[in-house]
Amino acid sequence: MTPDLTIGQALAQAAEMLQRAAVGAPRLTAEVLLAHALGKDRSWIIAHSPDPLTELAWIHFGRYLHQRLEGVPTQYITRRQEFYGREFLVSPDVLIPRPETEHIVEAVVELVPRGRVLDVGTGSGAIAISIALETQTAVFASDVSLAAVRVARENARRLGAAVRFYCADLLSAAPAASFDVITCNPPYVPERDKPGIQREVRDHEPQVALWGGYDGMDVYRRLIPEAWRVLKPGGWLLMELGYSAVRPVTAMLNEWAGGEIRGDLAGLPRVAIARRP
Ligand SMILES: C[S@@+](CC[C@H](N)C(=O)[O-])C[C@H]1O[C@@H](n2cnc3c(N)ncnc32)[C@H](O)[C@@H]1O
Repeated sequence: MTPDLTIGQALAQAAEMLQRAAVGAPRLTAEVLLAHALGKDRSWIIAHSPDPLTELAWIHFGRYLHQRLEGVPTQYITRRQEFYGREFLVSPDVLIPRPETEHIVEAVVELVPRGRVLDVGTGSGAIAISIALETQTAVFASDVSLAAVRVARENARRLGAAVRFYCADLLSAAPAASFDVITCNPPYVPERDKPGIQREVRDHEPQVALWGGYDGMDVYRRLIPEAWRVLKPGGWLLMELGYSAVRPVTAMLNEWAGGEIRGDLAGLPRVAIARRP
């Protein structure tokens, strides 16, 4: 059975179906999924709108649409996400890197172009690999999830970044006074907010990457004192902030020097930067 549709008609039908199901950015989503089904980029499919859709592409496209309608994030279907201008592989074993997390990389590039950096909870490796490729630092990265470390390693290999990865619970494996910079985008969603979290995130991203205990603060509570031990004097701690973490984290950084909270492009407080005196 052939679809008997042009690329343009398939796109229009899919966009309508996604819109009816209240999927965000329906036209863009349809274009990305069809481009993935055809093994082309979006500009190609737009330019080839009058061409007939092959049966094989139609079958793949149908499967991807079904997954998306079931709530699977587009990035887990295409297995790709851009971060800091580079393409990273993602799988359901890692959080999909978010654009607001790029502010951590920006701050490290600005503050510490050299030295030893440790990215804790590296996930896809997005922060660690970007820092390794943008600075002269020696970058280490860890995660409690071995499956995540495997994805991060593969990203480093593909992007040609010299990052040393290992599996550990927070900073338990790091010697005292051994790093100039620690970066971390911790799991910070409060479990009490679970019912209100988007199903794409709640049901599909790794649970260990999302939940920060009842109030979202569990990892900050452990990480901040551990970072004090592991940083060299004068070393920097940079952490992404959850929406309810700004005040408690600021209080926890009371004895640190050079404390600063930076906002993201939407003006929301996003990165806490502190310096070990
Ligand atoms: C919010 S995700 C951040 C992933 C990646 N750094 C990014 O920004 O896209 C949090 C990461 O921390 C890891 N993680 C959670 N608890 C941890 C722990 N106790 N020790 C080390 N890593 C942990 C998770 O596996 C997950 O990869």
